[in-house]
Amino acid sequence: MAIGSQPGVHLKVLETDRLILRRLSTADAAFIFDLVNDPDWLRFIGDKGVRTLDDARNYILNGPVEMYGRLGFGLWCVELKSDGSPIGICGLIKRETLEDVDVGFAFLPAFRGCGYAVESATSAIAYGRDKLGLKRIVAITSPKNDRSARVLEKAGLHFEKIVRPSEASAEVSLFAAEL
Ligand SMILES: CC(C)(COP(=O)(O)OP(=O)(O)OC[C@H]1O[C@@H](n2cnc3c(N)ncnc32)[C@H](O)[C@@H]1OP(=O)(O)O)[C@@H](O)C(=O)NCCC(=O)NCCS
Repeated sequence: MAIGSQPGVHLKVLETDRLILRRLSTADAAFIFDLVNDPDWLRFIGDKGVRTLDDARNYILNGPVEMYGRLGFGLWCVELKSDGSPIGICGLIKRETLEDVDVGFAFLPAFRGCGYAVESATSAIAYGRDKLGLKRIVAITSPKNDRSARVLEKAGLHFEKIVRPSEASAEVSLFAAEL
């Protein structure tokens, strides 16, 4: 059995018109390997050092799966309802460097420009408001990532300011919405 998909833990978190958002498990390693090595991911999010399928499994366990266990939410796998294929990730993240929970997303190139990022981000934000009781949600993105900014604005966030989350990190645009 894939690690991260314990029996009794419901994998499906959210459903929209076209998409299912569900928990990631180590069974998603090949998909995550492709996603985090996509040129746009590397440019706008950064190199996670995932060079092998084992690295991808560890990334899933130490990132999303660790956060599900600790907080009950995290980055989820976005699947097409029509055929069950994984097309991207979207979800809620609590970082030490940010006061508020933030929404994040990334999609494989073949599934961009179809409205899937907006559809999944909108539903993740509603989950944060309705199920987690969040009063405010933020997002951080590279100031050069225009497509991400457009998705965030369509999901109801607005640009607030440029921030540097930690000494070591580059400046990022902070978007926010009061819920
Ligand atoms: C950022 C990223 C997720 C944006 O993806 P995207 O394809 O632009 O977002 P969507 O799929 O929601 O597409 C929105 C577009 O689809 C269009 N669209 C097409 N069919 C649609 C439909 N049925 N419903 C809604 N929108 C539709 C919209 O009009 C919109 O186009 P526009 O921006 O020109 O107005 C994607 O570029 C990506 O994965 N990049 C790499 C990772 C990354 O940078 N992540 C963000 C880090 S902060």
